[in-house]
Amino acid sequence: MSGADAAGGAPPEALDIERIGEDVPLLEGIRTCRAIRRLRPDPVPPALIRKVCEAGTFAPSGGNRQPWVFVVVTEAERRAWIAERYRRAFHAYIAPALERSREPGFPEDRRRNIRAALHLAEHLHEVPVLLFVAGWRRRGEPQLQALFPCVQNILLACRAVGLGASLTTLHRSFGESCDRFLGLPPEIPSCAMLPIGWPRGRYGRPPREPVDRKLFFERFDAAALEPRMGG
Ligand SMILES: Cc1cc2nc3c(=O)[nH]c(=O)nc-3n(C[C@H](O)[C@H](O)[C@H](O)COP(=O)(O)O)c2cc1C
Repeated sequence: MSGADAAGGAPPEALDIERIGEDVPLLEGIRTCRAIRRLRPDPVPPALIRKVCEAGTFAPSGGNRQPWVFVVVTEAERRAWIAERYRRAFHAYIAPALERSREPGFPEDRRRNIRAALHLAEHLHEVPVLLFVAGWRRRGEPQLQALFPCVQNILLACRAVGLGASLTTLHRSFGESCDRFLGLPPEIPSCAMLPIGWPRGRYGRPPREPVDRKLFFERFDAAALEPRMGG
């Protein structure tokens, strides 16, 4: 079974770790790699997590320093520790947007996005894998420029093998205590948490503005971006 076939179904019974996901066309995978935040509680084989992390290690990095490390949390009690703090942080963060989303005329795609993020926050303790991406500081600064390409590779690999995943960073609001909990020293802070599991829904194209509204040859034209610039 291909990763594409697996999307949205029950977890596959027998997995060929070597082959799964290898046949998903790259550009189609990119176009359908949306945030999947409704996940089944069924476990994910460690070998599959290893496979998606390996995809992460093929990201570019300054001087090819490869500053990333991955910490995978699967134990229920440890997931609950993280989920409880994430939920609290999320509610504080999302409250104003939630309020605005109730007003008439609020864009439906953004309302759906908020609802999905809320669902993730409420169900994070049920998500079988919380994958943290961390990395060595350089000259005192986290090397985020290298870590986010690595994160995106992992998200794409999850898409290819049929796992649901999304990019979150809200744990940084309790980042120091979270990193201590993960055993990460201050010189290797985490930058992202990817909740990963078998998807309840299906992959599909996320709502995105047409590229022609964003693409300029030779010179940028601010007038062409109105009215949503930065909104
Ligand atoms: C740097 C960054 C941090 C993010 N942090 C969070 C987060 O903490 N929680 C969350 O639910 N979504 C977070 N998101 C947003 C989603 O992961 C997702 O990319 C966005 O809602 C688009 O969803 P879509 O692909 O389904 O359209 C973050 C996105 C980025 C790029």
